[in-house]
Amino acid sequence: MAVTLNSGVVMPLIGFGTFKIRGKELVYSVLDSALAAGYRSIDTASVYRNEGDIGESLKELLPKYGLKRQDVFITSKLGPKNQGCGRCRESCLQSLHSLQCDYLDLYLIHWPGTQGMQPCDARHRDLRLQSWGEMVALQKEGKLKSIGVSNFLQHHIEDVIDTTKHTPAVLQIEYHPHLVQRRLVDFCRSKGIHFQAYSSLGTTTDSNTLLTDSVVCKIAKQRGVSPARVLLRWAVQQGIGVIPKSTNSDHIRDNMDIFSFSLSDQEMVSLNQLDTQSHLCWNPSQVL
Ligand SMILES: NC(=O)c1ccc[n+]([C@@H]2O[C@H](COP(=O)([O-])OP(=O)(O)OC[C@H]3O[C@@H](n4cnc5c(N)ncnc54)[C@H](OP(=O)(O)O)[C@@H]3O)[C@@H](O)[C@H]2O)c1
Repeated sequence: MAVTLNSGVVMPLIGFGTFKIRGKELVYSVLDSALAAGYRSIDTASVYRNEGDIGESLKELLPKYGLKRQDVFITSKLGPKNQGCGRCRESCLQSLHSLQCDYLDLYLIHWPGTQGMQPCDARHRDLRLQSWGEMVALQKEGKLKSIGVSNFLQHHIEDVIDTTKHTPAVLQIEYHPHLVQRRLVDFCRSKGIHFQAYSSLGTTTDSNTLLTDSVVCKIAKQRGVSPARVLLRWAVQQGIGVIPKSTNSDHIRDNMDIFSFSLSDQEMVSLNQLDTQSHLCWNPSQVL
């Protein structure tokens, strides 16, 4: 399953998340499992400090699966400390170098703010607009196939569109049954922006509240699937992209199997009703 972005580029609805996966040996082995399981999209970021290991691993692994660079969709992100036109360009070129790529399929501004400033600092706006302008230029140069944003709220996105007349292709943001952002999803849909969820499985934590949620577990048991598959299916059934992360090859395979079943309307409603507006990651609502 795939979506066509506003850039005309086709992006798989499921990708492989790589936050907290670092070190050549581990990166190589999880990417080996992911490619074997059929993932053709990989999500990284300069702040994950694994782009170099991903680049090296893909160089070795793609031939093993008879794949070429163009068969894999690669996303990376501009780190919050590198906002502004000069730094954005430098950081993007560094990501390309580390990933050993001539182009990225998707490049996102990771966060609407700039690291080291108070959330209410008026410079955030100017710097992220500078970054965006530079990304538009990098896209025209062919170094970025698609450009988008992450952790931006509606007002951040409207400002980007109104000021630059360039609409992001993707919004990547935290989204799961404990944080249902219906109005933001509807807004993105109205603008033709693909909505991609992160932390769909409750992120990497010792006290995972999503995978152990009683409603999620009950639906999983009734359907004979894992709670992870219920959570991922809930998102993709809404046309929302997912990028589950795992270092366990059984989980990596399991998470791919979300197109062979569907949830009933009642199950979707039950999952939507779990919304508590709980953020597991960062919350951008304070960023001016
Ligand atoms: N743009 C942003 O600001 C942002 C923020 C956060 C994340 N992200 C992206 O989104 C990706 C996913 O989010 P996330 O890393 O927060 O975590 P996640 O995908 O929500 O959850 C990962 C956790 O779920 C476990 N898990 C995975 N599959 C499982 C299964 N089938 N059964 C049971 N447990 C399972 C993993 O453990 P095992 O390893 O043991 O399977 C790991 O502990 C990230 O890796 C990153 O690429 C982006």
